[in-house]
Amino acid sequence: MTKVSRNLQFSILFVLFYSCTLISVLDGRNITNSKLPKNDHTSRTLRIRAVNLGGWLVTEGWIKPSLFDAIPNKDFLDGAQLQFKSVSVKKYLSAEAGGGNIVVANRNSASGWETFTLWRVTEKIFYLRVFNKQFMGINSDGIIVATENTPGLYQEFQIERDPDNPTRVRIMAHNGRYIQVKTEELITADSMGGGGWGDDDPSIFEMNLSIKLHGEFQVTNGYGPVKAPQVMREHWSTFIVEDDFKFISTNGLNAVRIPVGWWIASDPSPPEPYVSGSLATLDNAFLWARKYGIKVIIDLHAAPGSQNPWEHSSNRDGTQEWGKTDENIQQTVAVIEFLTARYAKNPSLYAVELINEPLAPGASLESIKKYYKAGHEAIRKHSQTAYVVMCNRLNISDQTELISFASGLKGSVIDVHYYNLYTPEIDGFTVDQHIDFIRTNRSTELRQVTTSNGPPIFVGEWVAEWQVKDASKKDYQRFGKAQLEVYGRATFGWAYWTFKNVNKHWSLEWMINNRYIKL
Ligand SMILES: *[C@@H]1O[C@H](CO)[C@@H](O)[C@H](O)[C@H]1NC(C)=O
Ligand SMILES: *[C@@H]1O[C@H](CO)[C@@H](O)[C@H](O)[C@H]1NC(C)=O
Ligand SMILES: *[C@@H]1O[C@H](CO)[C@@H](O)[C@H](O)[C@H]1NC(C)=O
Repeated sequence: MTKVSRNLQFSILFVLFYSCTLISVLDGRNITNSKLPKNDHTSRTLRIRAVNLGGWLVTEGWIKPSLFDAIPNKDFLDGAQLQFKSVSVKKYLSAEAGGGNIVVANRNSASGWETFTLWRVTEKIFYLRVFNKQFMGINSDGIIVATENTPGLYQEFQIERDPDNPTRVRIMAHNGRYIQVKTEELITADSMGGGGWGDDDPSIFEMNLSIKLHGEFQVTNGYGPVKAPQVMREHWSTFIVEDDFKFISTNGLNAVRIPVGWWIASDPSPPEPYVSGSLATLDNAFLWARKYGIKVIIDLHAAPGSQNPWEHSSNRDGTQEWGKTDENIQQTVAVIEFLTARYAKNPSLYAVELINEPLAPGASLESIKKYYKAGHEAIRKHSQTAYVVMCNRLNISDQTELISFASGLKGSVIDVHYYNLYTPEIDGFTVDQHIDFIRTNRSTELRQVTTSNGPPIFVGEWVAEWQVKDASKKDYQRFGKAQLEVYGRATFGWAYWTFKNVNKHWSLEWMINNRYIKL
């Protein structure tokens, strides 16, 4: 056989193989089912063009604010930050030394030690957590302190508002008395209240309240055990429906990345305040995905203890606890193993992402590697073919920190998230500068993490939104197109954030329907 004919034969075989691949992709069958995925991305045949189904199984209030509308007393959600200025001494309440001490009222301005973070017990009863994580409470002498690490009866408070001026409040302790400022260094729970809302009353405070988090914890704990199951099931069954999968499959996309929370693994009886039903919803997603030939990337978006301080990790109060103990890591691995085992036989299962956006330094490199290794092993117990997606830690300078580690674990993928938001250096950029940033800087970054024998790269989140005022439709189109071009080179593929969103540029459905983005 001549060299030419061998080459020709090879080309024919290649074309044949390639078209079979295409057909089986269109069929919705997992073409890699028969063999182990390789890290060598040149052997890969499918490039993921996905959309995230954000705000569905893990709540994000900004995606669908109406989900929070009917929460009773909804100013007081978990994680709300409160500051109290005594009207009589005109100073702020403060946890002395940040906590582990008495509570005083001697600060002229408010920052960390003067901020009390709310935990909601019922719609009227709250715990207040201080800077060093202790809870404010009343001691046996009736003095207000911040010494307990575990809240109980003596840490319960109610906040009564002036009906004519809701920022003026009294704080009632568990003994039924209001706290009052006796001196700047002595706060006691022994005021009977009453007597109006005047400035001379040492039991009255000006309250500054800022709600920081609108996540799954806030919405389920906010509605409480009776209402939350109804509200969440209604949301799950209406926010994303079968027709959306049809839309996705007919608009140039071939996959969905589905954020889930760790409590899904204990459905039908997840720990409070979470409610059951997200697992059955994910089952539906897999049915529809199969029907319309869509791949699924399961993404553990909210890990136990929260891997970042934001609502999308279902954080209760901004405290990041994930990865601090082996037990916590094992619990997270168990969630991954549960999900993989459940869907391993479904041809739509394409990848499992071990954790979304772990934040340094709380998520240490050591804990992340330990977890990724164990998570990879748990997935491989049930599936030889599902890709194992490892998200880069979000705020690290060395974007390649996981490359050689992941290269040693078969079928690993590295996920990087590229937003032109949350990047202070480019906030003042013009339209052209933004587009240039994509073509120059992002493409360089992408090249730097892409190695010939290393893991394929997934741009698992991006959006055609920026800090440009009054950008035209044309501007958005150019911005979207530039990103599609650059992220189209990602060896695993990309996923837009997100499918549905009241903020229209963040909704790929809206962007497609209104011809801002064409795939
Ligand atoms: C209220 O709190 C927010 C954040 O906690 C802070 O930015 C703001 O300055 C505070 N306002 C007042 C009047 O203290
Ligand atoms: C990452 O962000 C956290 C929280 O904002 C910050 O404390 C930390 O210094 C950052 N780490 C790096 C490596 O930039
Ligand atoms: C983008 O890349 C260019 C060329 O390497 C560099 O000069 C510039 O500082 C980068 N811009 C940002 C915002 O990082």
